[in-house]
Amino acid sequence: MFDFKFDWCKEMECGVPAIDDQHQILFHIGREMEQLIMHGCQNATTKELLDIVCELREYTSYHFYTEEDLMLKYNYPETDQHKQSHAVFRASIIDIDLPRLGKHPEEMVPQIKDHLQDFLFNHVMVEDQALGRYLVSSMKE
Ligand SMILES: [Fe+2]
Repeated sequence: MFDFKFDWCKEMECGVPAIDDQHQILFHIGREMEQLIMHGCQNATTKELLDIVCELREYTSYHFYTEEDLMLKYNYPETDQHKQSHAVFRASIIDIDLPRLGKHPEEMVPQIKDHLQDFLFNHVMVEDQALGRYLVSSMKE
């Protein structure tokens, strides 16, 4: 029985619709990886594997930009620390070894999926919740 992890639930919302919508798309990318694993990634084409990593890289960059832009606009006091978390994750997905992914997808796709899962659950539930609370109260003023 496959253990699906990327199910979005209301508790994960941070209260800022633009951020919540984007988080759900990142969860969707995680879900695509789960599907790939479930169907045996060794059968995936190189294009399918590259597409999913490119999608993850591009969407993550776009999403981090959105959050960082809001932090700047509303003078978020924890900006440096939050941006540092983004930078560490961004670097880790840029570092994905694509030739190795093509050769050993059955080993690499679960690793990438677990890495995304750890980051999303820890970051979304802690740092983004704190950012959301700050932004929601700042936007009211
Ligand atoms: Fe964030």
